[in-house]
Amino acid sequence: MKHRSPLNSDFLVIGGGIAGLAFALAASEVGTVTVLTKAGSREANTNYAQGGIASVWSVDDSFESHIEDTLRAGAGLCDRAAVETIVCAGPDAVRELIRLGTRFTRVEANGADDHEVEYDLGREGGHSHRRVLHAQDLTGREIMRALTEAAAARPNIRTLENHVAVNLLIESPSVGRPGSCWGVYALDRDTNLIEKILARATMLATGGAGKVYLYTTNPDIASGDGVAMAYRAGAAVANLEFYQFHPTCLFHPAAKSFLISEALRGEGAILRRPDGATFMKNYHPDAELAPRDVVARAIDSEMKRHGLDFVYLDISHRDAKYIKERFPNIYKRCLSYGIDITAGPMPVVPAAHYMCGGVWTDLEGRTTIPRLYAAGEVAMTGLHGANRLASNSLLEAAVMGRRAFASARGVIASGDGRPPEFPEWDPGRAIRSEERVLITQSWDEIRRLMWNYVGIVRSDRRLERALSRIELLKEEIHSYYWDHLLDSDLIELRNLVVVAELIVRSAMARKESRGLHYNIDHPNIGAAADLRPTVIQSAGGV
Ligand code: FAD
Ligand code: SIN
Repeated sequence: MKHRSPLNSDFLVIGGGIAGLAFALAASEVGTVTVLTKAGSREANTNYAQGGIASVWSVDDSFESHIEDTLRAGAGLCDRAAVETIVCAGPDAVRELIRLGTRFTRVEANGADDHEVEYDLGREGGHSHRRVLHAQDLTGREIMRALTEAAAARPNIRTLENHVAVNLLIESPSVGRPGSCWGVYALDRDTNLIEKILARATMLATGGAGKVYLYTTNPDIASGDGVAMAYRAGAAVANLEFYQFHPTCLFHPAAKSFLISEALRGEGAILRRPDGATFMKNYHPDAELAPRDVVARAIDSEMKRHGLDFVYLDISHRDAKYIKERFPNIYKRCLSYGIDITAGPMPVVPAAHYMCGGVWTDLEGRTTIPRLYAAGEVAMTGLHGANRLASNSLLEAAVMGRRAFASARGVIASGDGRPPEFPEWDPGRAIRSEERVLITQSWDEIRRLMWNYVGIVRSDRRLERALSRIELLKEEIHSYYWDHLLDSDLIELRNLVVVAELIVRSAMARKESRGLHYNIDHPNIGAAADLRPTVIQSAGGV
């Protein structure tokens, strides 16, 4: 494998979803920015967001209410300062998205003597007010359209598509000084070259890791690369046991876990068993609008108790015209599978959706490695605690992307330090892989065992079994990795097994059930005195 000479810029952003682009757009006003995306520039979890972005917007709502709802969903594990900071920055972050061109769905309100335009506010589980700005049911696609167009118009931003970050460039630590991050080695998938990309500040915005589970709402890019790279480099990661399962994905062999937005339940959709019985009231007084962990566990429990492959979600009692206008994407997609949601219920199941834990950061987006920042789904700020409130992730990514830039800007402005010499990528005696089955088999094993042993409901035995299998797989993948020339599948597999191991180790460390982490051997919530995030840190240098 060949290599190319270093590409330099002031800021390197690994990831072009909402968090990465919020950072990049702000950074482009003060310096040069390189944005890496490992697929096309719009392929990101952000692109698939349906429900919308939560923010206090109406005069009936308040920051206190949004803060309380977030803390309640987080089951005691949120960092109050993070919640207050991010919730209160919400309206400004939304205004910035609008300024950059995002067109959220509007309602026209006729005032007494003027004609003003307002935004339609959706409702979702766990929110005590309507506060979700959305673009019909294609919010993420609209945000990505606006942000990628804005980035393309900035001469200071260079976007490198099909570039997969492999390892962070970390300088050797000296006495009393931890090693800083100066960029990344990245594989250009079009040329198969490994490039060295140097920058004075590096922003990790690689999104989630849904692909670690067999069934997920996430697109293929979500293989936890950022968590794995940061962990290998020695950054602290936290709260990875809290993987959120979305309660309602379409159950259809061709649908690939297509998400059915929580906003449907916000607008009155009801969950039923195939015999017609409703069941959510038996689990929570808020029924269909209970927090997501409760709804996902309730569906899981109904499916197991009654031997069901799915339950039904039904919104057909609402006016057909309203359904088609409010949820055009979901309506059309279901219809393409022969399901008319205006006329009857749709079959749904839970699937892995959102990584509440991630690379630990402070409220300035700083990781534990100097010059390395993180924001969005890859990061753990303390906002979500043990369970994310619906539509709080786009909010967190938009707010923290900009806050991370504000602190990275300080480092750049101080002008201190120059990157040390980093060697070119050395493939050693690696050869081209001829046996793809070794990759696909390991990939499949990890995702299946995570689904079966580390899913919605866990036990000590299942976790122990998962760990021993993962350790074996890790060894095999590790030796395969060093013997073969890199391609994106191998890079992702190596990352996926690290993330799987971190999720399992975090789950084993938590001897209680809280929020999204439910272990039948420790079914109760632990003592308040023991409440702390689960932090794991490697020695780095890998
Ligand atoms: P992403 O948008 O996932 O972007 C990640 C970027 O990193 C991509 O550009 C990718 O190419 C790049 N990348 C990854 N690895 C590498 C690598 N090794 N090298 C180079 N580039 C890399 N949240 C809400 O708040 N409201 C919603 O309504 C909502 N609906 C959702 C619906 C679905 C179906 C899904 C999947 C998620 C939804 N979420 C929602 C969650 C939310 O969309 C994500 O948490 C958020 O968009 C993450 O943004 P991000 O910028 O952190 O990452
Ligand atoms: C949805 O629309 O249900 C997804 C919202 C979210 O994940 O926040």
